[in-house]
Amino acid sequence: MTNFVGVTRNGDVAVVLLDNPPVNALSLHLREPLAKALGELSDDAGVAAIVLACAGRTFVSGADITEFGTPKQLQSPSLPDLCALLDTIAKPTVAAVHGTALGGGLELAMSCHYRVADAGAKVGLPEVKLGILPGSGGTVRLPRLAGPEKALKMIVSGAPIGAQEALAAGIVDEVAQGDLVEAAVAFARQKAASGANHVPVRNRDEKLAAAKADLSAFDAAAAELKKKARGLDAPVACAQAVRNAIVLPFDEALRKEREAFLTLVAGTQSRAQRHLFFAEREAAKVPGLAGAKSRDIRKVGVIGAGTMGGGIAMSFVNAGIPVTVLEMTDAALDRGFATIEKNYSVSVSRGSLKEADKASRMQLLSRTTDYADLADCDLIIEAVFEEMSVKHEVFGKLEKIAKEGAILASNTSYLDVNEIAAGTNRPADVLGMHFFSPANVMKLLEIVRAEKTAPDALAAAVAVARKIGKVPVVVGVCHGFVGNRMLGARGAESEALLLEGATPAQVDKVFTDFGWPMGPFQMHDLAGLDISWRNRKSRGETAAIADALCEQGRFGQKTGRGFYIYENGSRTPVSDPEVTTLIEQKRRERGIQAREIGEQEIIERTLYPMINEGAKIVEEGIAARSSDIDVVWTNGYGFPIGKGGPMFWAELEGMSKVVEGLRRWHERTGKPVYAPAQSLVGKAQAAA
Ligand code: 3HC
Ligand code: NAI
Repeated sequence: MTNFVGVTRNGDVAVVLLDNPPVNALSLHLREPLAKALGELSDDAGVAAIVLACAGRTFVSGADITEFGTPKQLQSPSLPDLCALLDTIAKPTVAAVHGTALGGGLELAMSCHYRVADAGAKVGLPEVKLGILPGSGGTVRLPRLAGPEKALKMIVSGAPIGAQEALAAGIVDEVAQGDLVEAAVAFARQKAASGANHVPVRNRDEKLAAAKADLSAFDAAAAELKKKARGLDAPVACAQAVRNAIVLPFDEALRKEREAFLTLVAGTQSRAQRHLFFAEREAAKVPGLAGAKSRDIRKVGVIGAGTMGGGIAMSFVNAGIPVTVLEMTDAALDRGFATIEKNYSVSVSRGSLKEADKASRMQLLSRTTDYADLADCDLIIEAVFEEMSVKHEVFGKLEKIAKEGAILASNTSYLDVNEIAAGTNRPADVLGMHFFSPANVMKLLEIVRAEKTAPDALAAAVAVARKIGKVPVVVGVCHGFVGNRMLGARGAESEALLLEGATPAQVDKVFTDFGWPMGPFQMHDLAGLDISWRNRKSRGETAAIADALCEQGRFGQKTGRGFYIYENGSRTPVSDPEVTTLIEQKRRERGIQAREIGEQEIIERTLYPMINEGAKIVEEGIAARSSDIDVVWTNGYGFPIGKGGPMFWAELEGMSKVVEGLRRWHERTGKPVYAPAQSLVGKAQAAA
């Protein structure tokens, strides 16, 4: 008995209980006593079978990620050593799985002869999300249990599956009814008594036979999945490892898997993705909120059923929280509800949503044009037009009908939440909840803490965000908060590049080569040029080319023309000679001589101002830490996860290089976006 591993006997069945809170990660201090206990029980003639179970909220959630890159990770007994040890045990071994058996947790469970799962359990190999592949036999054991194609899908996507699906796939052997450990002990006892030969998973090759005989279906599925890798090494390595499991002997495939794991874990992409894993969890820790009380949110009101309101309502009903949507007219409600219905129907036709689930979600939605119907809501989010006067009008009505303690939130993209709050008689209940479009899909939620926001209201917003599957980041009040403010810094310089000689396609290509899903001009076209135009006009700002496009009614994809042409509803951008002529005209008007613009300049003039603005945002306390900015950009704007977000990437690029670049462009252009932030200068000096 140690602090981390306890062994009890239930007749001739030994139960090994792992206890390493909070998620039973396989840290060295757990691996050591576990190996010792398994060795002893294997040799103990009085033990007929061994059950491996976990205390606390979950089965083993994987290797201890904090050990990666440290000597502890490889120190004996390593995770592969534990799996190999389980392979040698002749008496039946049974993993009792509750919560989530993930990564090394599932690898450990698959090294047992059998797995009994709790009905609510989930199993998966999410390593790909950390920029690695399963490194302890996951890619060679899962195909033997579930078949190569199912294994490929699970390993390349990293998505876990539920107990019933795992049972059907052959990954678990029984779903327990009632107490899990009791069920696992009964299962183990029955297996021991049966006298059957207990074949380790490594020796079960039956499910590989069909793919071994003909690899074409597997290769086609792998090629499809690899297409989505977008410059990330891990998904490609995962697919290769599963293929090795089919074509190579077990030990050879296992050796290659380990080799690939060690290469990836030492690489930049995995460092970046691990940074993001911890950054997301860090972002949920809001300064000043530790131990704060929260408010219950059981019913939500959404005002406005336009682009954002519909998606916001869907986000809540998807998590089982009822929503009442308010609009100005029945016609607007009809339009909004028709869009929601259509979105769910698309999911049903793609097979990602059951018809019955669509129906139950629609049932959780109600509609109204009468504010009194929002009186029982615990949280009311407005997503009406982006104009301060309209926001004041809406909040003015809300303060009259909302129940005491209801949280009043604005989805504003840019407006001053302090000013919105000041217009009500209950500013402590007001905050921003800035969703990203499409709101039912995008993970990011900027939660805007205004001057007078009450801690329990903020805590409730963070908690409900997590409940609906969003990644919340608490930010302070400023124009555009974190994401859009940094986008602004980038946007002005993207346009300047066009005036100085670049083309939209050239700039966008540098972005997609960097790993973004699209470049700034494609993104403008997708979001609608009119939105930023309206925002500029309200602030008395201009953008020569974008303004001229808007004046011609070229709002992007929605009008078929913007920086590019989109023929017949296509989403593929095609360069437009008319835009080239327009850019040339704007250059002439400004007396600018076009020059050759290289890739490095495009990177420096778009990403460096963003990093600089990010640093200023942290200095001003608008974001609590620079890793929060990385969470915003990777979850809300498609910053490539393999580069860890703009602030992490700046460290990779080298602070001295970034600061030198900013100074150079500041000297050349005199623009404030390049004036290096003090904190960056400090970091560059420290690194020198
Ligand atoms: N290693 C180290 N710490 C971990 C961890 C891990 N594998 N998994 C979670 N933690 C930590 C978190 O950082 C967090 O710490 P904090 O409280 O100090 O912020 C704490 O445990 C609780 O985590 P969550 O807030 O995420 O708790 P949830 O209950 O929301 O989620 C979970 C639990 C689903 C297990 C989630 O934590 C998770 O997905 N963990 C990672 C799972 C994973 O990626 N496993 C594979 C690891 S790689 C591997 O196994 C390699 C092998 O193939 C060789
Ligand atoms: P939208 O124009 O698609 O929808 C606004 C809806 O609000 C309309 O259906 C309108 O009928 C309704 N509305 C207007 N005034 C109202 C009132 N007084 N009472 C009730 N309903 C009213 O606008 P969209 O794009 O959904 O934007 C809404 C808010 O979300 C804005 O503040 C915007 O800045 C913000 N936002 C928009 C994003 C986007 O990508 N579209 C992203 C993030 C935030």
